[in-house]
Amino acid sequence: MNFHILTLFPEMVMQSLMTSITGRAVKQNKIGIEAVNIRDYTKDKHKRVDDYPYGGGAGMLMQAQPVYDACKSVLQRLPEGKRRVIYVSPQGVPFTQQMAQELAEHDDLLLICGHYEGVDERVLEEVVTDVISIGDYVLTGGELAAMVIVDAVARLVPHVLNNHQSAQTESFHGNLLEYPQYSRPEVWHGKSVPPVLLSGNKKEIDIWQKHAAIQRTKERRPDLYRRYSELEECRKILMEKKLHHTDMTELVNRGRAVFVFRNEKEILLKDRESGIYFHTDLNLKGEGSASEFDALFTQNPQAPLRLHQQHIAEMLQEKYAYSTKACYRQMVYTRREKLPVSGLYSINGKTDGRYEVRPLDAKEACLPEICGLKDEFPEMEKQIKKGCVYGCFLEGKLAGTMGICSDGSMGMLFVPEKYRRNKAAAALETYLINHMLEQGMVPFIQFMEKDSAVFALQEKLGLSQAKERVFWLERE
Ligand code: ADE
Repeated sequence: MNFHILTLFPEMVMQSLMTSITGRAVKQNKIGIEAVNIRDYTKDKHKRVDDYPYGGGAGMLMQAQPVYDACKSVLQRLPEGKRRVIYVSPQGVPFTQQMAQELAEHDDLLLICGHYEGVDERVLEEVVTDVISIGDYVLTGGELAAMVIVDAVARLVPHVLNNHQSAQTESFHGNLLEYPQYSRPEVWHGKSVPPVLLSGNKKEIDIWQKHAAIQRTKERRPDLYRRYSELEECRKILMEKKLHHTDMTELVNRGRAVFVFRNEKEILLKDRESGIYFHTDLNLKGEGSASEFDALFTQNPQAPLRLHQQHIAEMLQEKYAYSTKACYRQMVYTRREKLPVSGLYSINGKTDGRYEVRPLDAKEACLPEICGLKDEFPEMEKQIKKGCVYGCFLEGKLAGTMGICSDGSMGMLFVPEKYRRNKAAAALETYLINHMLEQGMVPFIQFMEKDSAVFALQEKLGLSQAKERVFWLERE
């Protein structure tokens, strides 16, 4: 992904972003950052870029021409791709982690930094796709705001952070702030590290950290704490049918769930990453009130759904004229221990595995084998770009793929005919399960009834099958 920052102060931006993690990521070609000097594009012979605002008022305004020409010159030389043009301003929508996640899926982001009292509105109307503010305060220029956005987005680009700096475990994960942390010495200024952290008892430490995170969130961010409590209530209900609801509890566990509605035992959540709505109704009546759906469909008639009761799927399909309804089995890896790897794949040349398994990179999305999978797995390319799809290789040749789908389940399993019956699928799924366990996730998979080979593999790897099915409603 490439960031293009349009500014009157290119040194300020580059000096800061070329240090530390973003600087390292640029040097390793994980991201590109350039600063474009807006002044280079002015047609004024004195190199001026500002003028007085019509109608009077304090201060000067950046003129349309240099901003427009700077922006066009960048856009013209970009290859095809997903891009946005952002103007940073206190008049924008507040920047959030969720926006950072969405922006991280782009190929190019242009950020326009205003100075003086702002920028002529006409150029903004012509080129800008988003106006973003980093908070309710006014800075002297847009540079710091642009740097904040670049930093927050860059760290979500695959492989910018290394494994132990995982973007998954962080503040806001699951709506809780991070617990307090301590390093050596054990006593500093007469203050001791909480004894439990020195005990070596992992379980006790986990409990302490969770409790401390809850306390801190309650005190400092009552708004986040309310969201956390709502989702905890949902989790309790969902756990009544644990295997059937793993897709939903994992939304909560992975910090992706947005609470939409709860009524006795009916729950509607939205996955903040994929936009899919997940619903269950454990009320015994069996009629399914599905009461919130009218409002949901008025707002978002395209909403894809994952439902956990057949009668509700049938009712909604008819009522809202969904074009496809499919029924999936769900299987869950319920243990915490990793699966044995021996004989399957090697990691960095170690162990005795047949295959090499590694994440596919964006360039590999164009491999003919992968392009051929577009119909079967429409989201494959997008998931590769996010670093969520893995390839297994035999003597350098792609012998299979599997990854994490946009809804958080395992999927996109594909093994070319000539590599079948050679444990390529087992190697891929074992790798994926072990990787997800390391990230604190519960791996699960959803697949069609007729996929008997996929079912056999799940049984072999020890996944447990939910009794009930999951129903997908989507529009073509
Ligand atoms: N420019 C000046 N203040 C700003 C803010 N709070 N957010 C974004 N851009 C700005």
